[in-house]
Amino acid sequence: MTFEAIAPRFGGGVPAGSIRVFDTTLRDGEQAPGAGLTAAEKLEVARQLARLNVDVIEAGFPAASPGDFEAVRRIAQETRGGIAVAALARCRDGDPQRAVEAIGVAERPHLHLFIATSDIHLKHKLRIDRDEARREAVRWVKWARETLGRDAEIEFSAEDASRTEDAFLLDVYEAVTEAGASTLNIPDTVGYAIPSEFGALVGRVKDRIGDEAVISVHCHNDLGLATANTLAAVQAGARQVEVTINGLGERAGNASLEEVVMALRTRPNQFPDLASAVQTEQITAASRLVSYLTGFAIQPNKAIVGGNAFAHESGIHQDGYLKNPLTYEIMTPQSVGLSGSTLSIGKLSGRRGLQGKLRELGHDVDGEQLDAVYRAAIALADTKKEVTDADLIALVEVRKADVPRSIELLGWSISSSSGGHSLGSVSVVCVGEARAADSTGNGPVNALFKAVDEAIKPVLHWSPVLTEYEIKAVSEGEDAQGQVLVRARRSSDEGPGALVVTGHGLSTNIIEASLEAYLVAINKLHGAEINGVEVAFVGRRLAEELP
Ligand code: KIV
Ligand code: ZN
Repeated sequence: MTFEAIAPRFGGGVPAGSIRVFDTTLRDGEQAPGAGLTAAEKLEVARQLARLNVDVIEAGFPAASPGDFEAVRRIAQETRGGIAVAALARCRDGDPQRAVEAIGVAERPHLHLFIATSDIHLKHKLRIDRDEARREAVRWVKWARETLGRDAEIEFSAEDASRTEDAFLLDVYEAVTEAGASTLNIPDTVGYAIPSEFGALVGRVKDRIGDEAVISVHCHNDLGLATANTLAAVQAGARQVEVTINGLGERAGNASLEEVVMALRTRPNQFPDLASAVQTEQITAASRLVSYLTGFAIQPNKAIVGGNAFAHESGIHQDGYLKNPLTYEIMTPQSVGLSGSTLSIGKLSGRRGLQGKLRELGHDVDGEQLDAVYRAAIALADTKKEVTDADLIALVEVRKADVPRSIELLGWSISSSSGGHSLGSVSVVCVGEARAADSTGNGPVNALFKAVDEAIKPVLHWSPVLTEYEIKAVSEGEDAQGQVLVRARRSSDEGPGALVVTGHGLSTNIIEASLEAYLVAINKLHGAEINGVEVAFVGRRLAEELP
């Protein structure tokens, strides 16, 4: 069977045989509590999404905060090569204007308007009736079409569509299509739908709208069905899928990009003549980057990108796999960018060799960044027998998460003995002022963190409150590098809307790694305080509901 191109009156449509991949890691994904990214980090993720070759990058929600506006604007400015940049906006005065301002510079702007349509949302959240919801939807779609012209992509989402009364939902979709929407998104906002039921809903929208608009789906994973629902929707006629890397997103997350894309690729008979343009070999790099920057670990048994996804532990499986990998492997590790090799630094032929190796691992690094990684890899080779792929990736990642620094650590010392008593001293420069402090603690990290707090408090007038501390070895062996993740907030910023940031540190000395992670977090908190533009943190800055 061959599918026809979908070419609505407006927007770019979808070519025959294509599934448009709309990545919302930087919008819905970033709304996951604790996953806040700085504008610079969002830009790093956007660059990796461009390497993945997704069709649309939903970069954020510009009305949510000045920081998110700035992040969307920078991504819109930088993203080229036919990749569209989307921004979310409520159907409410102020939001669409702000979104249009942010994506105006994009090569391919994609405006995403939404309003809730289910009775439960209308009655309890928006406190408006169905007629008003439909009126506002039509009004803002019309405004957007008049403002952006006929070629721009204007997407309309009926929030909580899967719990909306059918006849009303279809009326709203028809009305916004007449008003100029080129994509109709059907969100399963609370992850309530079951695949057969969701596929049928997509079929009904398709029957009503025909090819007047591209049908899109946006599935949440509250029942663990987001990927299944998305695939059922594709079989029923959806041609845009809204997904996130690692399935990141509100509550249980969104449909995961890697699962949906690899299902399309691995089971072509189930999706005849349909394919995405995603470079699947970039999936592992994207997954690691997002996990690293958000601090959301990937469970080992996560499909496609979990540490065990391609591991064969039991004897029977290993025997079969060795005779023929197809016995237990439906995809190759290479197809998702896992090279599986390890390499010792001695074999690198200088910077070029390192660059080639990093490219194989999904990281395009050049210029000053390459020099810095090279110097760090050589230094690491002095303290560690073997520099592995995982070490190299960690060295690249730690640079991607770098932040502007007003607080620098000059030195530290620690004395610690059995019985838990530790005494730490630090010297820092805090916003231009040299400061030193000592503190005791129940262990070396605690003592040094407290000493940092003492040193900076008189200047900043707040202390960091540590909400999470995690340490893991990057590779095997006693000489492995330790990777530390901390999450922290300001003592002066409390309650559910408090800004929580992450910090990372990497060193073969775990105290050094811990202090580095703490200092990164403190600098982010300070940056957010003095200059909202440097940070995005979309989810925690909008007082009202976010979908
Ligand atoms: O889950 C949801 O309904 C959303 C919409 C804005 C698409 O995120
Ligand atoms: Zn959502």
